[in-house]
Amino acid sequence: MELDIKSTIKRMEELYELGTQPDGTHTRIAFSEEDKRARDRYIGYFQEIGIEPIIDQAGNIIARMDGKDNDLPSIVIGSHLDTVPDGGKYDGVLGCMAGLAVCEAYKKSGQKPMHPMEVIVFTDEEGARFGSGMLGSSAMCGIDLGISDSDTDIYGETRSAVFGRCGLRVENISKAIRAKDSIHCFFELHIEQGARLYKSRTPIGIVTGIAGVSRCEIRIDGEANHSGSTAMSDRKDALAAAAAFIAQLPDMVQAYGNEYTVGTVGSMKVLPGSVNVIPGSCIFSLEFRDQNEDVIRLLEERAGEYIHKVCADYKCSCALKKTADHKPSPMTGWVVEGIEAAAKESGAEYRKIPSGAFHDSLVMSEVYPTGMIFVPSVNGISHSRHEHTEEGDIKKGMEVLWRVVEHVDRRNLS
Ligand code: HGY
Ligand code: MN
Ligand code: MN
Repeated sequence: MELDIKSTIKRMEELYELGTQPDGTHTRIAFSEEDKRARDRYIGYFQEIGIEPIIDQAGNIIARMDGKDNDLPSIVIGSHLDTVPDGGKYDGVLGCMAGLAVCEAYKKSGQKPMHPMEVIVFTDEEGARFGSGMLGSSAMCGIDLGISDSDTDIYGETRSAVFGRCGLRVENISKAIRAKDSIHCFFELHIEQGARLYKSRTPIGIVTGIAGVSRCEIRIDGEANHSGSTAMSDRKDALAAAAAFIAQLPDMVQAYGNEYTVGTVGSMKVLPGSVNVIPGSCIFSLEFRDQNEDVIRLLEERAGEYIHKVCADYKCSCALKKTADHKPSPMTGWVVEGIEAAAKESGAEYRKIPSGAFHDSLVMSEVYPTGMIFVPSVNGISHSRHEHTEEGDIKKGMEVLWRVVEHVDRRNLS
């Protein structure tokens, strides 16, 4: 059996085009019209091979292909289709298309696996809209993200309004929970989104663990005032205070972290946002990630201490609100070994690496045996229109996925 790489590439191109914006960028923010178009097209791909996907109460798309023994728990392959603004062609989409290609290869060959196969597109993995991601996988794993109808997104819309348009209800999300014994193991094929594989020219990454992520929203309040007539000594400049805090973030990460530790301010709102008004308020996101939870907690503590000190210096006040928190998670031993055996059998060079990016596998690994396969991102670029992965590497990644799924299925590894 062969996986159809050409169709996979073509389908990723097609979905990328479905996200075309008037300004020429490509974006499929979760719950947007573009996201819905891509999801509908993806469902169509499965219908074309005779599989009718369902959508669960969290909006996850679940395509199931029966095996010879449907009393066995499913082997699941999955990822996400939603993107960040002006995102790339492969993040998440590759894993979804690879799962489709595995089912398609079985269908074309007329062979049936022992285990039922499921391919899952998880809802809102990126969290670009409401600030906290992995909604669909968290719901499936019974993890309460603390979402509410009144959450507002980056466009100022409430979650209830956005969910309403997509046929979702906050109170039903938790009904997407899956029985622990319904899934044998979970695989995700994904681009590395970092530069380690690309720099070392290694086509396959076997993920050992996924960094934890802690996100909060920081609001600094000072005093809006006239920018021309307010002396510097009389100011309570919220943006100047934020800038003083943000400027020291690299040093703080350096001081308390390690080579895998990252700290980022990715979004900011300045109010009232006029050229001739001293910013009265500033609201920004702060995110820490590391493979070790203790490092994340230490950085949270130091950042909290420092933001209060800076605000005192600038005669401002501040409030911090946690918006996301996921512990780091190791991948499952026997699944990692299975991927390594498959990589060896395929003859592809590989190396074991941690993932700095989070994925639905971060959540799935808390409940189900989970493994991830990485393929290189050219120049390590991702979450960008310049994201690219070579076709030859996609082919190798899909072959390793295919081999490990076959091994696990035939030998009922666990
Ligand atoms: O943010 C992340 O790490 C992932 O790409 N959603
Ligand atoms: Mn992703
Ligand atoms: Mn991403």
